[in-house]
Amino acid sequence: MRELIHSSPAALGSWAFGDCAYWPDQQHESSVQTLKTALRSGVRHLDTAWAYGNGRAEQLIGQQLHRLRGEIPRENILLATKIHSFDPHALERRVLESMRRLQSPYLDIVYLHWPHTTGDILPLYQELFRLKESGIIGHIGASNVPVESLKKISSEVPISICQFSFSLLWRAEEQQLIPWCRSRGIITAGYSPLGQGLLGGTDPETLGQKDPRRDLVFFDPEQRHRTAEVTAAVRLVARQSDRSMAEVALQWIAGTGMIDSIIFGARTPGQCTGVLDGLAHPPLSPQQQQYLTEVSHPIPSSWDNIFHHIW
Ligand SMILES: NC(=O)c1ccc[n+]([C@@H]2O[C@H](COP(=O)([O-])OP(=O)(O)OC[C@H]3O[C@@H](n4cnc5c(N)ncnc54)[C@H](OP(=O)(O)O)[C@@H]3O)[C@@H](O)[C@H]2O)c1
Repeated sequence: MRELIHSSPAALGSWAFGDCAYWPDQQHESSVQTLKTALRSGVRHLDTAWAYGNGRAEQLIGQQLHRLRGEIPRENILLATKIHSFDPHALERRVLESMRRLQSPYLDIVYLHWPHTTGDILPLYQELFRLKESGIIGHIGASNVPVESLKKISSEVPISICQFSFSLLWRAEEQQLIPWCRSRGIITAGYSPLGQGLLGGTDPETLGQKDPRRDLVFFDPEQRHRTAEVTAAVRLVARQSDRSMAEVALQWIAGTGMIDSIIFGARTPGQCTGVLDGLAHPPLSPQQQQYLTEVSHPIPSSWDNIFHHIW
């Protein structure tokens, strides 16, 4: 898996492909063409979840991988999905259902999407380990898991990859979780690298009144000012260096050296190409990297994830 991650450090996320309320107006054909663009541009790590449209994103990916199987063999793809279950006895059925939708006899990575707010999550990971031993799961992933829980889980079950939000707008994990993962050889995967569009130039003022992104922590009263400062700094560096804002935001992540896999969302082939081209360009200058690191210095938040999710 490590070689595939290194050869394809940008992973295509598929939340928007699920035809779900969070990403309204997403057209099916645009999702299909975005996925094809990513694959034909060399992206080999795909991130999905049952929760992305109750399996619709998984289904779309399964159909397209099947159609493209002559061009891109299944074994060259790192297929990751996330399962939502608080019942260990239900996990095997959930995994088999995801495999059916993804049209694959095995899954390279299976994460538990969000941990319990109460209760012991270890039995769920132990069940995933049983499924790994049976050969249908390649690697077990932890998603949105606080570092103390991760330490406990990984003393019992081998965790290969850990997924959490990471961007100029959300750096909460760099103090503890990321260093701990790196010290244990656990692959770090950062999602929402573009702050769900805010770091790509999407103007918060133009978001519709009901756009769910308005509920992100970036708009909390305590964070709002920092969000504006960070996006302004990204815009400034982009202008000065003739790059897109998305490119600057992604290059800053690459420049931290903390993230092995950048899981990005794109809703159109053009956005996808913009991300991949941006990551292929030369790094930011040390001064630009330093400037953005300083401007985005985290301030205390009442929350420990970007969605106000309570764990
Ligand atoms: N484990 C978890 O709980 C979890 C949570 C969230 C996400 N994820 C995963 O991470 C993936 C990515 O995260 P995300 O979609 O939330 O956030 P993201 O990658 O930060 O943002 C995606 C948005 O960025 C904008 N964008 C994309 N390419 C662009 C470009 N070239 N130029 C300018 N803007 C661009 C678009 O915004 P507009 O729509 O405004 O155009 C797009 O919808 C998801 O698809 C999912 O697979 C996992």
